[in-house]
This record gives sequence, structure tokens and C-alpha cells, in this order.
Amino acid sequence: MHYGYGKLILFGEHFVVYGLPGIASSIGLYTRCQLYPNDKGIKVRDRLTNKNIALGENKAEILDRTMRIILEETGLEEKNFRLEIDGDIPVFGGLGSSAALIVSIIRELNEHYQLGLDDGRINDIAFKAEHVFHGNPSGIDNTASTYRRLLWFEKNLSGGKNKIELLKLKKPLQVVIGNTKIIHDTAEAVAEVRKRKEKNPEKFDKIFSEARNLVLQAKNALEKGGLQKTGELVNKNQELLREIGVSSKELDLLCETSLENGALGAKLTGAGMGGCMFALCPDEKTREKVAQAIRKKRFDSYITLVGG
Ligand code: MEV
Repeated sequence: MHYGYGKLILFGEHFVVYGLPGIASSIGLYTRCQLYPNDKGIKVRDRLTNKNIALGENKAEILDRTMRIILEETGLEEKNFRLEIDGDIPVFGGLGSSAALIVSIIRELNEHYQLGLDDGRINDIAFKAEHVFHGNPSGIDNTASTYRRLLWFEKNLSGGKNKIELLKLKKPLQVVIGNTKIIHDTAEAVAEVRKRKEKNPEKFDKIFSEARNLVLQAKNALEKGGLQKTGELVNKNQELLREIGVSSKELDLLCETSLENGALGAKLTGAGMGGCMFALCPDEKTREKVAQAIRKKRFDSYITLVGG
């Protein structure tokens, strides 16, 4: 049984698609995959709803194409096996459920067939497979899921290796994730931002340059353990995401609720337009308070540590 972990983008979603830096981490929510030899089929069960997603239903085609890429890349086209997969990452929620699914499959195949793939190769295959789900992803989701650490990410726009730097924190961050439960499509959100950028290049150039600056400052604040400063930058990042039009009234409400309950910063995470947000909290007690406040508003919340 092997695992692929969900991810949280702390800084830089959307901007990373254009080669700007981003900071992301894996989180505790996961997908796991078990291989049974000499059999056929693939079954994906959502542990949150307890429903199976099987070949022949909605997601069949996507799953099929994903598997084809993974098998081609690993040279396992001729093998017979059945995969049972389950997970607790909300799908279409901005927490990297597709990347986690893919990474869990590759890791299970790697172990079972003794392929000797290292993290770099696992990440490359996962990136290829992620294209099935997201059209033209930056690669930040599969990278955070593969490396299971807090990391700096910069997409190489010429197609070469992306820049990945593992980041060290003095203390893990106390984080609450709030889920609006409104599903979104990442590819659509990315396409929408592109359209707006083309329509309004000057406005977007200014926002993009602020976004680059902000991520550089965030790295510095994170590494120095400057929690207050990190929180301020999280809020500024949310402001930029609002300006490019990917926040929503539910995401704004959850950010406001978190700040009112003592969070140092709060922003959407992932593609936005629904999905999840996160709140950076100063301590465990505040984290619990924020998580409860979000639940009181009838949204879901999960607590997690980042950078631990
Ligand atoms: C999705 O988790 C993050 C986006 O920046 C898209 C991507 O980087 O591929 C919105």
C-alpha cells in the first residue's frame, strides 16, 4: 500500500503557471493505493462519501488516460493487476487530489515491480499524468505531493527542469483548511485568468510583479520564523488573488471568519472560484477556535501542520 499526499499552496497559485515562484507543502490528507497481481481493473473509492468511482462511470475516461500514461512511462503495459485506491482529499477542492492519486499509483507500481524510480522520476511521470486532469498544469501540485515537504517551486517555461528547493522551518505552521464545498475546475480557472490577463495586460503586469515580490518576502519570513509577517503576506496574497478574480464570496467569508477568530492570515488555496482556503494560526488553541468558527458557518474544516 502506497500513499500520495494532498497539497496546500501557501503562496503563488495561478502566478506559478507563468513561471513566477510559489511556495507549497504536502498536507496530512492522502490517497492510498493497493495493487493485487494477476487480476484486472481499477477502483477508486472516495472515503468522504464512501462512493466508488469505477471504470465505466464518469471519471472512467480520465482515469483510463491517466493509467495509459503511467503504464507507458513505467513500461508496464503488459502487466496484469488490479488497483484499489481510496482517499480523503476532497475532489475538485484545490488540495491536489488528482496529483495525490497519481503519486500513490506510481509509488505502488514502483514498489511492487521493483522499478527503482526515485522521487525525481516519480515527479516527472506524475507531471505528465497531471496534464490529463488539468490541461497545462504548472507542476506544483505533483511536486508537493511527491516530495512531502514545504518547498519553493518555479516552473521552467522552456520545458526544462522546474526549480524545486526544499524549505526548512524553525517550527511547523499551525494551519486550518476551510472547504467551501463548492467544486471548481482547475483548467477552467486557469483559462479564465489567462483571458482576463490578455484583456487587461497592464493591470495584470502590475499584479504579477507584486506577486513575485511577495513570494520572495514570504520565503524570508517563513525561514526566519516570522509568523506575524508571514500572516500579513498571506493576506496580501489573498488580495492579489481577489484582484485577478479567483476568490468568491464563500472564500472571502471564510477568510474573514478566520481573521476575526485570531488567524494571522487567510487566503484561498489552489485554483479558487470555490474549493478551499487556509488560515495561518499563531497557536493550537486559535487553530481549534478558527476550525470551529468555520464549521459553525456550515463549511468543512481540517486542521493540519505544514512544514513539520
Ligand atoms: C492548482 O492547484 C494551482 C494553479 O496554480 C494551477 C497550476 O499551478 O497548475 C491554479
